Amino acid sequence: MTVDEAKLNDLLGRFVVDVGASFQALGAALGDRLGLYRALLAVMPATPADVAREAGVDERYVREWLSTQAAGGYVTYDPASERFSLTEEQAFVLADPGGMQAAAAFLIPLAAGTNIDRIAEAFHTGEGFPWHAQDPRLFEGTERFFRPGYVANLVSSWIPALDGVEDTLRAGARVADVGCGHGSSTLLLAEAYPASRVVGFDYHAPSVEQARTRAADAGLADRVSFEVADAAGFPGEQYDLVTVFDALHDMPDPLTAARHVREALADDGALLLVEPYANDRLEDNLNPVGRLFYGASTVICVAHSKSEEPGTALGAQAGEARLTELLREAGFSRIRRATETPFNLVLEARP
Ligand SMILES: C[S@@+](CC[C@H](N)C(=O)[O-])C[C@H]1O[C@@H](n2cnc3c(N)ncnc32)[C@H](O)[C@@H]1O
Repeated sequence: MTVDEAKLNDLLGRFVVDVGASFQALGAALGDRLGLYRALLAVMPATPADVAREAGVDERYVREWLSTQAAGGYVTYDPASERFSLTEEQAFVLADPGGMQAAAAFLIPLAAGTNIDRIAEAFHTGEGFPWHAQDPRLFEGTERFFRPGYVANLVSSWIPALDGVEDTLRAGARVADVGCGHGSSTLLLAEAYPASRVVGFDYHAPSVEQARTRAADAGLADRVSFEVADAAGFPGEQYDLVTVFDALHDMPDPLTAARHVREALADDGALLLVEPYANDRLEDNLNPVGRLFYGASTVICVAHSKSEEPGTALGAQAGEARLTELLREAGFSRIRRATETPFNLVLEARP
């Protein structure tokens, strides 16, 4: 076997980046939990002692943390003054409470990692590992990972991209948000369309509990409600709009769920299906976004979908063609890509 040294070095370089990135996950989760990014934002340009004082934590740990954050490009270091700071962009992504809070995304791999032995066992047996068995940090991480995308797009772009749905929502519509998790999409809809009544369904009782708390905190409890229900059997009928955000591919039986949505819709109702962006062919998903979603899918989405019959396991990179085929089989007649972002595939389906 002849090893090409340049190729070997390229590959090893990737390992250095990726192993470093896995520590970045821990560092970002610590920064998020301990409020270190926010502390830096409040006192920058700052020494480690300034940040430690502001956050109420130990200075030596903070110095090491700031150093790894600076090496990873999440924080800026000025050697002349020996102070750390955040650029506008770093602050928006990591520190600003009204910004992306992107460090929370790392809670997702961190949570799944705590169950790596059980997931490895599932690889052997072929059995599933259900959503509800995952570390609870997954539920918070998922909410906070997806929410900025919904805030940026749902009301301003995705709803207007659907045929006539915005007017219906403004006038007052019956809406179901299926697989709603902590309810970020549900609450955004309820807030934007006060004449509409929105109900969020999820099979996972602790998430529904959390969604109810979010609704009460947001003062929206009069127009939004949350119930524990499986996607294949949620109550109600004649919905004007059913939404499913980043959840259909997770379900053990997405076909039965889609059939049930079709039956629960009014004749002129619409399904808004948001799924992780993917191309139809594997080779077209071999990029950073594909890596992220295939990675999460391996240990979370496929694992949950295989936890019950029929264990369809669409995977988080199912792609438009596969999703369209499933919706057609479920009885939808008009299916189209309404819009997209680099992270989201947005489909509209009509009975
Ligand atoms: C990736 S999370 C997305 C949550 C939420 N829609 C969001 O975007 O933040 C997938 C959600 O699907 C829910 N789910 C999985 N299987 C389900 C089923 N059979 N019926 C209802 N909800 C289900 C999970 O509990 C979880 O909340």
